[in-house]
Amino acid sequence: MNSRRSLGFLPLVATITVLVVPPILTAQPPAKSTQVGKASPAVKPAMLQFPQGTATPSEFCGACHKAIYREFSEGFGADLQYGEILYESPDGKKVIGMPAKTSMPTLHALAGTDPFPMHARTIEVGGRSCNVCHFPQPFDIPDINKAEIVKPKGRPKEQEVGGLTCASCHLTPEGKIRGPYDVKAPHETVRDPKIQTAAMCASCHSEGKRVVGKQTQTFLEWREDFNKPGLGRQHCQDCHMFRTQRKIAEDFDVPVRAVARHLWTGGHSPQRVRTALSMVIVQAEDGKPRLAFHVINVGAGHSVPTGSNRRAVYLRAEVLGPNDTVAAREAWMFAPWFQNRPDDRKYLEEDKKAPDPIAAAQADAQGPHETPIRAGEERILAWTPQLPVGDYIVRARLIYDLNRYSDPEHTGSQTEIYRASLAIKVVD
Ligand code: HEC
Ligand code: HEC
Ligand code: HEC
Ligand code: HEC
Ligand code: HEC
Repeated sequence: MNSRRSLGFLPLVATITVLVVPPILTAQPPAKSTQVGKASPAVKPAMLQFPQGTATPSEFCGACHKAIYREFSEGFGADLQYGEILYESPDGKKVIGMPAKTSMPTLHALAGTDPFPMHARTIEVGGRSCNVCHFPQPFDIPDINKAEIVKPKGRPKEQEVGGLTCASCHLTPEGKIRGPYDVKAPHETVRDPKIQTAAMCASCHSEGKRVVGKQTQTFLEWREDFNKPGLGRQHCQDCHMFRTQRKIAEDFDVPVRAVARHLWTGGHSPQRVRTALSMVIVQAEDGKPRLAFHVINVGAGHSVPTGSNRRAVYLRAEVLGPNDTVAAREAWMFAPWFQNRPDDRKYLEEDKKAPDPIAAAQADAQGPHETPIRAGEERILAWTPQLPVGDYIVRARLIYDLNRYSDPEHTGSQTEIYRASLAIKVVD
């Protein structure tokens, strides 16, 4: 399931490339045909244009930017797993998965066809194209200090399926390709240092004002909780797009440069989520069953979990007595709120009149829970189980879930990310 090399898939990519590139290339006849006289080698060949805008298929760029395209379209080099999402709604349950494949595209490459958002918008917002960030038009990189970031505009409905393409991030509204370098390319480029900063990710990875605890806040969490207080200097790319040295365009006479791996591992990567949190169990008072669980954000430059309100981390603790019998059990959930206030069952009536009644009720029906662990934060959860005198083992696990709105026992969307244990003695 985890084997990364899929030799069988490579010829397929090559075929797509062969099929897709020529028609587009020929659709843009070189301007030299309009020139008088013989085209000498000194005459600059016409620049590639991208008349389809952000609907330009990524395969097209991939014909020249091969390694980047392989990462983007196959997840080559990452441990991405789609898992199995159990979607429960008033209309019934549905298990959403991806066709069995040895390797999986990055979530950016999937954004327009990923069945989870597509199904969610059908059920939750009556099929409205709410998820514009999954198929955006070209946008300007916003000012990194702007209080509230505007979200991109979506493409027309019939062009949605192409989803998030290379051009979505690289094409400027003026039709040039932005990148970090000064290069000579067969297309117009513009050097924009902002592409290496968090501002590049802000348009789609934040929505609305900063509200601590709410969903869709990743960029704002990074800016306010991590970057401004000086917890770290890393921008999103430094953690999510590790760099290597190679040619940007393999078949061209260009220098080797530092190139960012286009993998963006997140919630679908066990390797990524396992680096986010650590945990320590403490017996707060000698001889007493007073326990404290310290859950520490050691790896993320934002809250954990971050982004969509669907994500959650569960802390499941149990106390084992003689012969491993369970003497006590407790569980907590850390998750973003759907709205600007804590999820709570007391709002269920009100939700019926809310703009998105189904999505709002889905969140409130779970009742109050812990907010995500902020960048740098150490959250302490206290628990005093009733335990007779004796020796015990306290065990605790942290579990990441891609979809908290399903049966907590459904493990298809879950990854265990941390385990800790502690021997304790309870005396009179
Ligand atoms: C501001 C940009 C933006 C808008 C608008 C948006 N999304 Fe998304 N969506 C994202 C991002 C970014 C993610 C990646 C996951 C994360 O950040 O947690 C995502 C992930 C998701 C997921 C989880 C998919 C997975 O990877 O498991 C679902 C489901 C989803 N979106 C549905 C929707 C629906 C339904 C709407 C409209 C109500 C919507 N989105 C609007 C940006 C957006
Ligand atoms: C015909 C081949 C070809 C195609 C097709 C192509 N590129 Fe390029 N691209 C190049 C070459 C060559 C360079 C320069 C590489 C260098 O100097 O290292 C380049 C450079 C770039 C850069 C770096 C720009 C900078 O200023 O740092 C980006 C980003 C880029 N291309 C993105 C794209 C995207 C997105 C597409 C598709 C919409 C695309 N390219 C299509 C050949 C191509
Ligand atoms: C044009 C909008 C857009 C931009 C810009 C963008 N993203 Fe995303 N990103 C998305 C969407 C939409 C998804 C979710 C797709 C899905 O799950 O189906 C996503 C998913 C991700 C994921 C994977 C989450 C998961 O569920 O596994 C990571 C990590 C990520 N983005 C990081 C970044 C970083 C870092 C940047 C900046 C360099 C960035 N993104 C820029 C729209 C965008
Ligand atoms: C989610 C946004 C996003 C998407 C989608 C995306 N890129 Fe990039 N790309 C970036 C960012 C950000 C950088 C700058 C990375 C850094 O910090 O060095 C970059 C850099 C590059 C560069 C310059 C070399 C480098 O790493 O600095 C090339 C070439 C490039 N991308 C090509 C592509 C191609 C081809 C695709 C599609 C197969 C693609 N990109 C898809 C965000 C994106
Ligand atoms: C110090 C390293 C670090 C930095 C900086 C960082 N991240 Fe992350 N990111 C992580 C870790 C670790 C996780 C896994 C835990 C989690 O989901 O919160 C993660 C997860 C994510 C996810 C997955 C969410 C999901 O629902 O699947 C997205 C999207 C994301 N980051 C985007 C960003 C963006 C955008 C930035 C910059 C504004 C950023 N990250 C900055 C380390 C980092």
